[in-house]
Order: sequence, then C-alpha cells, then structure tokens
Amino acid sequence: MNIYNEILNLKDKKNALILAHYYQNKEIQDIADYVGDSYYLSRISKESKNKLIVFCGVDFMGESAKILSPTKKVLLANREATCPMANMLNINEILKLKEDYKDVAVVTYINSSLELKTISDVIVTSSNAETIIRKLPEKNIIFIPDRNLGSYLAEKISDKNFILLDGYCPIHEHIDINEVKSIKSKFNNIKIVCHPECNKKIRDLSEFIGSTSEIISYVNDLKKNEILVLTENGVNKSFTDKNYYHKLKKDIVCADMKKTTLEDVRDTLLFEKNEVEIDNDLVKKSRKPLIRMHELA
Ligand code: 13P
Ligand code: SF4
Repeated sequence: MNIYNEILNLKDKKNALILAHYYQNKEIQDIADYVGDSYYLSRISKESKNKLIVFCGVDFMGESAKILSPTKKVLLANREATCPMANMLNINEILKLKEDYKDVAVVTYINSSLELKTISDVIVTSSNAETIIRKLPEKNIIFIPDRNLGSYLAEKISDKNFILLDGYCPIHEHIDINEVKSIKSKFNNIKIVCHPECNKKIRDLSEFIGSTSEIISYVNDLKKNEILVLTENGVNKSFTDKNYYHKLKKDIVCADMKKTTLEDVRDTLLFEKNEVEIDNDLVKKSRKPLIRMHELA
C-alpha cells in the first residue's frame, strides 16, 4: 500500500481531521482535509466535530487549536516545527511597557508563544487584524511580536497609537530588496504581491499586501499579468495559472514549515504521538484572547 493510502485509511479508521497551512510541502497539502491560512485553520479546528486533529504547520498553530478545543486530541505532525518569531519577545518587557500607558490593549499576532498569549487582550492573524483592531475601544495598541505587521497596521489605522517591539519573521524580513527592485524595473506592468510580514521597503514596492489566502485570491483574480509573489513558496501550489510568475533567485522557504513529511503524518496518526499538551492554567489564560479573536473577526 502506498503512503497516501496508508494515511487515508488511518484517517478514516480514526475519524481524524488533517489540517495543513499553505506553506506546507505540496504532498502534505494534497493529503489534508483543509488547507488554509492561520485564521481559517484555527476556525476549522474549533468548529470541526472530529475528536482527533493532525496539524501540519508549526507549533503555535497546534497550540491554538488545542486551546480552542481542549477536549480534542491535537497532534502536531512534526514536533520540531516551530516559528522563530513566536519566541522573540519576553513577557516581562511587555508587562513593564504596559504600565506606561493608560488606555491600552495588548494585541498579539497568533504567531506567538503561549506565554505572550496569556498577557494579551486579543489575538489576531494577518487576515483579521485590521478588522479587530478597529473594533477595540483602546487608543493605544501594544502590537506584538511582529514589528512589520504592526507597522503595516499602524499605517492603515491612523486613529490608534501603535507601540511596536522588535519581533519579525526572518523569512520575510530577509527578502532581497535589490533583486525585487531590479525585477520591477525590467517589467513595467508587473504586480508585486507581498505578505504584511515583509518590511516597509518591500511593502512600498507592492501593489497588494495580504495574508496567504488573500494573496492567493488576488493572484487568481489577475488575468495574464506578470506577477512576483513575496511570501513563502508553498502558496504557489494554489495559483491557477502558473505562466506569468517571476521568481527570486533564491526561493522563499520557511524551513520549519517544510519539516513535515508524509511519513510524519502517517506515524503521528498511527501512534497518536506528538500530542499538544498544555498546562491548564496556560489554557485558561490564553483561551480568552483567542476566543475574543473569533468573536471580533
Ligand atoms: P497567514 O495567516 O497569512 O497564513 O500567515 C501565517 C504565517 O506564518 C506567515 O508567515
Ligand atoms: Fe514563522 Fe515566518 Fe515561518 Fe511564518 S514564515 S511560520 S512567521 S518563520
């Protein structure tokens, strides 16, 4: 039996749900029940009836699924898959900073550690952050950990005062601006599309900025345009017409997202290993801001 069939059989036998982020390897996206951006996957994991979930993504995604559905068994297909940005800030510096402001909310990107989530007023993803922040009554927004997504939102929501710290996604931060400029100068009508985790210089060169699912919809709505997509290369799988793409010399790859293999998915399902287990107190404290995200999004 080939590995696809092994996984499908195990999945049926155990009535499990396989979720995969758009940055996962192609074969993982093929085997998943649902593929999506962080918010969509969080919603599916919360609303699904399945008691067993295999998450193909990075650790904060599995943790968020477990916090939203504490009675479900959530397995992370590859235990080593983590998001470097999630652990860049320390909660004490945020608590201290919060003391300097009165009318303040701590808004935390879902790409964050559990500890950061426990001190947050609300969690956001790149596809719902603007909607949620506009609904908050507070004037001052401590936005953590991503300074790039934070500065993008600060530009859009001018009636709030954003306080940013120094977290960032190394994959989006290190896109070569000179190469992007050079491609833009060669192709007059090129549409440059990027994720808001990119820095301002890259965002300023882009026609469209959005979450992974928003990027995919935008690109698939474009007709026969020269296109340069500046986010992790896993999204390419969802583009319906692949004829008009430009690529950077070096592919944009999140090594952690690419760690998950079909063997990982099979073995995780078979042995029900890599269970996401979270201390009750942490679940209680981080659940509130995550539920609030789902209420406000
Ligand atoms: P999306 O929520 O847009 O899928 O982004 C997740 C992520 O990790 C981007 O680097
Ligand atoms: Fe984290 Fe960046 Fe990888 Fe997304 S692409 S999971 S933000 S390291």
